[in-house]
Amino acid sequence: MTKRALGTCGLILAASFVVMPGFPQEAKDRVAPENANEARLNRLQPPSQVMDIIGAAPGMAIAEIGAGRGRYVVNLADRVGPTGKIYAEDIDEVALRHCAERCRRAGFNNVETILGGFTDPKLPDGKLDLIFVISSYHHFSDPVALMKNARPALKPTGRLAIAEWVRLPGGQGEETSPETMKSQMEEAGFVLEHIDKSLEDNRLYIYLFRPQPVDRPSALKGPGQGQTLQEMTTEVFPPGIASLGGHRFGVAFS
Ligand SMILES: C[S@@+](CC[C@H](N)C(=O)[O-])C[C@H]1O[C@@H](n2cnc3c(N)ncnc32)[C@H](O)[C@@H]1O
Repeated sequence: MTKRALGTCGLILAASFVVMPGFPQEAKDRVAPENANEARLNRLQPPSQVMDIIGAAPGMAIAEIGAGRGRYVVNLADRVGPTGKIYAEDIDEVALRHCAERCRRAGFNNVETILGGFTDPKLPDGKLDLIFVISSYHHFSDPVALMKNARPALKPTGRLAIAEWVRLPGGQGEETSPETMKSQMEEAGFVLEHIDKSLEDNRLYIYLFRPQPVDRPSALKGPGQGQTLQEMTTEVFPPGIASLGGHRFGVAFS
């Protein structure tokens, strides 16, 4: 065999041993709900649709505050992929241990659990593209202090997304009103950019915030500053487009 032919054979052999990055289990198995309650919640808060709305994308670093047993953590870990990173934060050590074991079983090696304090999520400084909260906001005893302490974890281009139950006329149950959400998060140092209402029939609003720049009060006059809630849902971005982390994502807003 000539030197050239040997070289070609070597290349083909080497290529056949290249391991493609990925996770060992089938996609549907590694993100599967663990019980009937998780399945019910996933129907009301469909993970792919919610992750499209919040702009979760491959390679991102995302923290979920109030991650619990990891119902959404597995979906986020799958979405960001092996080049991304998920920080699963909660104050419940038992739930976090369960979440870590669930991720290990599903083959996710891109998830780190963080045991936070009631008002300090202990997230890594300046590393995150996105902070995400789902089904947890109304459980926080002091959401203003908690989210104020979470803010330094965002990159300057990072965003906060909160998916929270809303009470519709005649309804009842756990919820936060859009007015309370906007004013509490303003107090915590965030500017409301948009409210996605495409899951309104399921009683779910998704709020997208950007962090106020630190120590630059004159820089606070960007989109969203001083606008009414009505304007938030229609005017900040053209229909169907949300901006997140310096990128623009096509999103179907209703
Ligand atoms: C209803 S569970 C939602 C869990 C998960 N996000 C989901 O949708 O499956 C609410 C979670 O919020 C957590 N939580 C309550 N107060 C918290 C706080 N101050 N900081 C972080 N997590 C908190 C609880 O421990 C619990 O795991």
